[in-house]
Amino acid sequence: MIETTLTVRGDQPIGTISPRLYGHFAEHLGRCCYDGLWIGNQRTDIPSYGGLRKDVVDALKGLPVPLLRWPGGCYADHYHWRDGIGSQRPTRLGMSCGLQVEDDNSLGTHEFMALCRLLGAEPYLAGNMGSGSAQELCDWVEYCNTAVNTTLMRERSANGSRDPFGVKLWGVGNENWGCGGNYDPESYAREYRRYATMLRHVDPGAELVACGQEDEWNLQFLKTNSNPRHLELMDHFSIHRYWIHGGPELDFSEQQYYGLLAEADETEEFVSRTAGFIRDALGSSTHKVGIALDEWGVWHPEARPWGPDNEGHREPITYEQAGTMRDAVAVAVALEGFHHQCKVLTLANLAQIVNVLHAPVMTDGASMWVTPSYYALQLHTAHLGAMALPVDVGHGTSLPNSDTSAVTATASLNAGGTTVTVTNRHYDQQASVSLSAPNTRAVKSAQLLSADSPRAVNSAQQPHQVKLAALQVDADGADQWRIELPPHSVATIQFT
Ligand code: AHR
Repeated sequence: MIETTLTVRGDQPIGTISPRLYGHFAEHLGRCCYDGLWIGNQRTDIPSYGGLRKDVVDALKGLPVPLLRWPGGCYADHYHWRDGIGSQRPTRLGMSCGLQVEDDNSLGTHEFMALCRLLGAEPYLAGNMGSGSAQELCDWVEYCNTAVNTTLMRERSANGSRDPFGVKLWGVGNENWGCGGNYDPESYAREYRRYATMLRHVDPGAELVACGQEDEWNLQFLKTNSNPRHLELMDHFSIHRYWIHGGPELDFSEQQYYGLLAEADETEEFVSRTAGFIRDALGSSTHKVGIALDEWGVWHPEARPWGPDNEGHREPITYEQAGTMRDAVAVAVALEGFHHQCKVLTLANLAQIVNVLHAPVMTDGASMWVTPSYYALQLHTAHLGAMALPVDVGHGTSLPNSDTSAVTATASLNAGGTTVTVTNRHYDQQASVSLSAPNTRAVKSAQLLSADSPRAVNSAQQPHQVKLAALQVDADGADQWRIELPPHSVATIQFT
């Protein structure tokens, strides 16, 4: 049994947790967009909101989805937005991550905006720098955002939206070091400048996202664009983090369990290191450049033809994988880091929203179920927009071969009171936690996500294997509380 004390530091506010840190990502890849989100008029047996799958949209409404990135990913650098508007839409080769499919473009700009409206999500569009042009991307911005009576504005109006969509966030390419054109950082940095200059003319209020990678690329990109006038062309710098060292999706060992959590934990360090590079590049400039972790999550070997342990990958590759309780714990670990970094991390998008990779929602024919990661995200709802507070860990038991405490937590404060999310990362030991949190008079709600095994999953046949349950919280003195947490579990307590 682990004994831990946690102390919420109300006296050391970190910063506001932007709702944008809880963004999602929908790519035209596998069954994410087509089949997962969009069924058009193909499936009369599945109810829809004008072609958007009702069961999926309704499930997603139970989560915070404040931000949604689309249409890729690698798909974005082949995507021609005009293919997805109007009544005559061409069928193209849908290409991403080595897949080639028939893509009828029935889910286009207007359908995506309708989805965002249903979910209350802010749209984030990834532009095509790979096979497109600066003019094509400028036209998409104008089509979406202009209120001036231009031909593109009238076309948008004729297609059903007189009002501008008001899209703020625009990605200038995606992974342009690889699938987005195999650029080197210097040539991408120069090309970025040209695109960003033109885009700013069309919409001076657009927030532009430049593509980063690992340290070497990031430093080189920033060096090439180190002139303050050039740095000001960038509002966010995109980095991606997939956790790929956790072994098999289901049949992982204890060591691999910890390996995956360590990778999730390391995401914070990557964000913080990248923020340091940006800080150095900006020097005394008052311009702000945030970090956009616009793809993150678990990518198991079964769902990829590359990387470690992938000998047994499924054929054909569908980019679908089992989402276990372990993956949900990894989500909680990562979100702790996001809260710590909320002053420099300006947005984040879990990859991907339905069916593909680290999906919170899955479908199979007419069936729909949610994964343990769905509940891990749901447990964090009260943190959105709140003030992040550090949590000191005392008396902790460390994880095997590591100095990371087995029990960790994140806290926040909003007008309703304090919320604390506690994670027991241990593979097989229960934890008894003594929690001290200032100004906590009563428990408003307390929920626990746990399962008998870290390998537990939900499925079409057993959709409720892993779900939330009530957590017992005992008062232990003024502002002092005690909870018991099973191994590999996550819990949230909201106090008034
Ligand atoms: O999310 C799947 C793929 O991963 C995306 O298309 C690409 O950006 C990344 O490599």
